[in-house]
Amino acid sequence: MKKYLLPIVALAFAACSSNEQQASYSVVPLPQEVNLTQDSPFKLTRSTIIAYPENNPLLKRNAEFLAEYIAQSTGYTLQTKAIKEGESATGCITLGLNSEITNPEGYKLSTSAEGIRIEGQTENGVFYGIQTLRKSIPAVAQGATVLLPAGEINDAPRFAYRGMMLDVGRHFFPVEFIKEYIDLLALHNMNTLHWHLTEDQGWRIEIKKYPKLTEIGSTRNRTVIGHNTDQYDNTPYEGFYTQDEAREIVRYAQERYITIIPEIDLPGHMLAALASYPELGCTGGPYEVCPRWGVFEDVLCIGNEKTLPFLEDVMTEIIDIFPSKYIHIGGDEAPRTRWAKCPKCQALIRAKGLKADKEHSAEDRLQSYCMAHIEKFLNEKGRQIIGWDEILEGDVAPNATVMSWRGSAGGIKAAQMGHDVIMTPNTHCYFDYFQSTDKANEPYDAIGGYVSVEKVYSLEPTEGLNDEQKKHILGAQANLWTEYILSPEQVEYMVLPRMAALAEVQWTQPEKKDYKDFVKRLLSLVHLYQRDGLNYAKHIFDIQAEISTPQAGSSSERTAQVTLSTVDNAPIYYTLDGSQPSEKSQQYDNTGITIDKTTQLQAIAIRPNGSNSRVLKRDFFFNKATFCPIQLTGIQPSPKYTYAGAPMLVDGQRGSDNFASGDWLGFIGGDITAVIDLGKSGNEIKSVATHGFVSLGDWIMGCKEMRIAISDDGQSYREIATKAFPVKTAPGTRGIEDYSIDFDPVQTRYVQLTLKTAVLPEGHNGAGKPAFLFLDEIEIN
Ligand code: ACM
Ligand code: ZN
Repeated sequence: MKKYLLPIVALAFAACSSNEQQASYSVVPLPQEVNLTQDSPFKLTRSTIIAYPENNPLLKRNAEFLAEYIAQSTGYTLQTKAIKEGESATGCITLGLNSEITNPEGYKLSTSAEGIRIEGQTENGVFYGIQTLRKSIPAVAQGATVLLPAGEINDAPRFAYRGMMLDVGRHFFPVEFIKEYIDLLALHNMNTLHWHLTEDQGWRIEIKKYPKLTEIGSTRNRTVIGHNTDQYDNTPYEGFYTQDEAREIVRYAQERYITIIPEIDLPGHMLAALASYPELGCTGGPYEVCPRWGVFEDVLCIGNEKTLPFLEDVMTEIIDIFPSKYIHIGGDEAPRTRWAKCPKCQALIRAKGLKADKEHSAEDRLQSYCMAHIEKFLNEKGRQIIGWDEILEGDVAPNATVMSWRGSAGGIKAAQMGHDVIMTPNTHCYFDYFQSTDKANEPYDAIGGYVSVEKVYSLEPTEGLNDEQKKHILGAQANLWTEYILSPEQVEYMVLPRMAALAEVQWTQPEKKDYKDFVKRLLSLVHLYQRDGLNYAKHIFDIQAEISTPQAGSSSERTAQVTLSTVDNAPIYYTLDGSQPSEKSQQYDNTGITIDKTTQLQAIAIRPNGSNSRVLKRDFFFNKATFCPIQLTGIQPSPKYTYAGAPMLVDGQRGSDNFASGDWLGFIGGDITAVIDLGKSGNEIKSVATHGFVSLGDWIMGCKEMRIAISDDGQSYREIATKAFPVKTAPGTRGIEDYSIDFDPVQTRYVQLTLKTAVLPEGHNGAGKPAFLFLDEIEIN
């Protein structure tokens, strides 16, 4: 792998340098307790030995890991040596166990001029001490003597479950890359890889009793182009892991104290299995390994007498490969439509007396029946199940651990019910979402959404729970769904450095968390990513712009104030005339920039090493409505898409090309009415415009009709214009739409806009249901 190339090259230079470099324990994730003394540091040199207790093969392996890590930084490979249990070898880095350490993954790292000792209650803890030591040493310290400050670190993780999920169903990643991903988990002190192995678009694990699952189910003949357009690439896409390969990966992970939790997602997301064994579906097919992305109506037929034995057989082989306590059985996104019409499913519903009530349909209970059956089967084999939060819809399998993904609400509910929970809310933990709101500047496409490093960092997994309920939060995890993630390099880009932010959520106690401090510490870890040739995302080095606008109506001043900053205080240069900024442009002086008219602000941070920021671009559009008081008198935006509310519609800034960026208000289920107070009567106006973001795949459609009415007293309105807009219904429709009406000039104080929302079209997953309307910036001229 590319990551090991650099130290080998570096060896050539090692012999001739005799520099000293300073280590720092300010690592990610931040240790719980670091006590430094004024004593002399430990000097790590090429002759330092790593000692481990004889007859402990795990600590021997840990010693070898440490030697490899140090070699990656310094270019020299330390010798390892077995010593008698309890002995401390002077001048060495000594590994050992210490039963007084209370947390099974905790460690103590003590440093003095005489040596370093890393102790854990278990070998796992020692491994995390090694990770801390490794990250303390500068990433590039070729041939250097490294000075490690004297003192003691006492550290232990906050959560016992610290995970990352990888979906290999939509796109397949080779064994070598799964190992690299595991190495990344280890670097970030994580201990669980949730491996999502089966999908509509591909079945990726060999099951010997059902060979067609991989003979047929691991290949799709074509893949949709873009975001569910009606075009396909007509190129077969394939891949699966043999059981031997999966076992090899389990072993590789175990060596790094990482548990692999396999997921067989059932009863939905099963089209690849249905294409292989059509008799397991309600209609009998024909089925195709799915070439599109989304949620599909064809799911396993639970009423079919072959289905549960099939699942039991699959699980039997899965638990033989994966020794994990938990097996993930999915449970998400399984439409009930086929079951509602299937004679076999309806017969089972009757036979089992499954009844609808106010909250749940009989078909919801059929899904619960299936999940509970598989849970019982696995429990009898000594395993526990995890399911996505949909398993709360119906009767939750009694011992299930719930993985909360549709925000945190499902997890909160499950913890209140006494279930264990793993928090993976899409608001903070979906690493398939964009990392910036500026898609034009992104090297890769993404599924949508917006989850920045700072957003990940802000997750508090136990929020909303009392002390008793908090005990049910086992930990947190990020999910990497791979519909739009095609290559290992793209995986690296999506997870780094968001994984670092997550690591601190998982490991560090909340009172010690501080985003600004984290970002400073992150810089050292980024040096390591850089050294290893990892394709990390660089958004944290971009310019941060904070834009303060007058609270609507509170000020007569109609100006926006922009402050700019970077994590490393790099000098920033800007222009206000639409030209490309450079060192020759105006230098930002930290007092802020005042915007009082239609302007394009462009800014760049210039760094001596040439790693300049991307150009920040912000457009401001001033018009008669800008910063005026505004009220929404019809439906309100839905809570997830409300942000700063109605004033955002007149803040001089139009929404970006990402509807989840925080600039678009999202409405659903009725007409939108906005009233803008232009401040005094007699304002002459002749046009009104606004903008929508349409994304049919995300249940967002355009505006059907806009009406304009005016008033001088804000009580009685006179309609002056109305216009219908054609609503696009083609699958894959996505982008910004403009809605404007021109009319003969009129004089007014109040302007009322009414916008009609649409219903999802025939053929859409949600046909007949209300569509969202995403709105930004109302402009009156
Ligand atoms: C999920 O994102 N469907 C769990
Ligand atoms: Zn059925």
